[in-house]
Amino acid sequence: MMVAGRPMRSIWPVDGGRRIAIIDQTRLPHELAIATLADLAGVATAIRTMQVRGAPLIGITAAYGIAVAMAAEPSDTALDRAIAILAATRPTAVNLRWALAEMDRVLRPLAPGRRFAAALTQAEALAEADVASCRAIGEHGAEVIENAWRRAGEARPVAVLTHCNAGWLAAVDWGTALAPIYRAHQNGVPVHVWVDETRPRNQGAALTAWELGQHGIAHTVIADNAGGHLMQRGLVDLCLVGSDRTTARGDVANKIGTYLKALAAHDNDIPFYAALPSSTIDWDLEDPALIPIERRDPREVTHIEGWCETGQRLTVRVTPRDSPAENYAFDVTPARLVTALITERGICPASREGLLALFPERG
Ligand code: MRU
Repeated sequence: MMVAGRPMRSIWPVDGGRRIAIIDQTRLPHELAIATLADLAGVATAIRTMQVRGAPLIGITAAYGIAVAMAAEPSDTALDRAIAILAATRPTAVNLRWALAEMDRVLRPLAPGRRFAAALTQAEALAEADVASCRAIGEHGAEVIENAWRRAGEARPVAVLTHCNAGWLAAVDWGTALAPIYRAHQNGVPVHVWVDETRPRNQGAALTAWELGQHGIAHTVIADNAGGHLMQRGLVDLCLVGSDRTTARGDVANKIGTYLKALAAHDNDIPFYAALPSSTIDWDLEDPALIPIERRDPREVTHIEGWCETGQRLTVRVTPRDSPAENYAFDVTPARLVTALITERGICPASREGLLALFPERG
């Protein structure tokens, strides 16, 4: 997608795939910094500290991370170790496990001497497949946005509320929930996006707002608690979010706070969509209570980070020194609150039957 009018992706290989370049998302929106990840430890740290984040991008980073590890040491032991280290970085996004399984499937049967080249080829293939999936999600989802605009009489921009960052920064390109917005915008549909700030890490305020701004898409950042009020006032036509793990029956794990937006949307009769590539579907999991919910450092709740007007990065405490805090990073929106899932193969009800109609090979 575009940055300062130039096309850019969130990740790309450098040095013949021996290292990976990423946009360091902890520096946005104030600084567009490119970081280079030169070894397995660096890749694992980048995922854990959220220099890269978002379910699809976590998976693709891990795939490139395997290539980096194979460049250093292509033995069976090194492959096992790389997979174990990367798999332990973040627990909720199933794309991580999926990408590592794909790499293992391709690399395991090969002689060690052939593994690095094959790993790079496979990581590139997964990255390109992710771009294609997100582009297709954009095409399918744009129809939903356009229909909402027409239903509202085309009198004003269609108002979409989104949570967290499910844009191109969370994938390789296009994104999931933001892809339909980009495509609708390209198709000439006027869109206005309500951007949930998304405490504690503010991916909405920092990343979604930045992405949309780079593309010239009208948006307004709101406090996380404002969405329900806007819905009651008729100021939201539809909600559109991403997913980190979708159960085989259509429940959607996504950034903490997503569930509350789905409840408010349900109460106000507002359609609530989740957009996700099939790499986000956990076909083995029926029970949403079994989704591992990441719990991060409470410091992300007790402190807040920003840039002061003189240009320095600053972290300040917002709670009393002795108040304990908890930091649940994701929640699960039950399928019954999800109007439909938008995937690369089309749009389906959030149910086992709906998913299997699009992915019959999983039945
Ligand atoms: O903790 P994060 O920033 O990795 O969480 C990201 C989200 O929750 C996104 O909404 C989700 O990954 C879907 S993104 C394409």
